Amino acid sequence: MKKLEEDFFRLMSPKLTALVTTISEKGREDVATFSWITPVSFNPPMLAISIGPDKHSYWNITRVNEFIVNIPKEEQLNQIWQAGKKWDKEKSNIEKAGLKTRPADKVKPPLLPECAASLECMVETTKKAGDHVIVIGKVVKTHADEELLDDNGNLKVDVARPPLHVADNLFAFPYVTKSV
Ligand SMILES: Cc1cc2nc3c(=O)[nH]c(=O)nc-3n(C[C@H](O)[C@H](O)[C@H](O)COP(=O)(O)O)c2cc1C
Repeated sequence: MKKLEEDFFRLMSPKLTALVTTISEKGREDVATFSWITPVSFNPPMLAISIGPDKHSYWNITRVNEFIVNIPKEEQLNQIWQAGKKWDKEKSNIEKAGLKTRPADKVKPPLLPECAASLECMVETTKKAGDHVIVIGKVVKTHADEELLDDNGNLKVDVARPPLHVADNLFAFPYVTKSV
C-alpha cells in the first residue's frame, strides 16, 4: 500500500480543471488537461500551473512563453478526458476531442470558444518543484460567456457546472451555492 504522504493530493480534491491550449514554435496547436492550477496574484493578475516537464504543453509554454487557460463546462467532460491523453504525432488532442478553436486576442495559442471562460496568459517565470515545474503566467486578457457570469463577475457555477477533478478518472459536480 502507498504511503499517505505520497497520495496527499487526494486529500486536496476536488480541483477546478482547465483545458490549457498551447502552440509549438513550429505552429502546431495543442490542448491538455490541468487541475494543479491556481490564481496567485490580484495585481498584476497572475496564475500558476504545475506541469510535468515531460509534457508537450511544458515545452510549448516554455519556448513560446504563452498559453491559454480555458475553463470547461459540464458537457465538456469527455473533451477533458481526451485532452488528458498522451500526445500523438499524427493527430492533436484538439482534433481528437473535436474542440472548436478561434484566434486569441493577445497570444498565439488558440482559444476554445465553447468553454465558459478563457484566460490568455504570458509566462512570467518558472520554478522547479520536485518532479513538476510551476509555471507562473500573467493574465493579459480574459473572455467569458456573459450568460454564465453573475453581477459580480463570478462564474455561475451552478449553471456552468465546471467538472472538478477528484483523482484518476473521477470528477465531482458539487454545485449548491450558499452566501455567508
Ligand atoms: C483531470 C486531469 C488533470 C490533470 N492535471 C494535470 C496537472 O495539473 N499537471 C500535469 O502535469 N498533468 C496533468 N494531467 C495530465 C496531462 O493532461 C497529460 O499528461 C497530457 O497527456 C499532457 O499532454 P501534452 O503532452 O500534450 O502536454 C491531468 C490529466 C487529467 C485527465
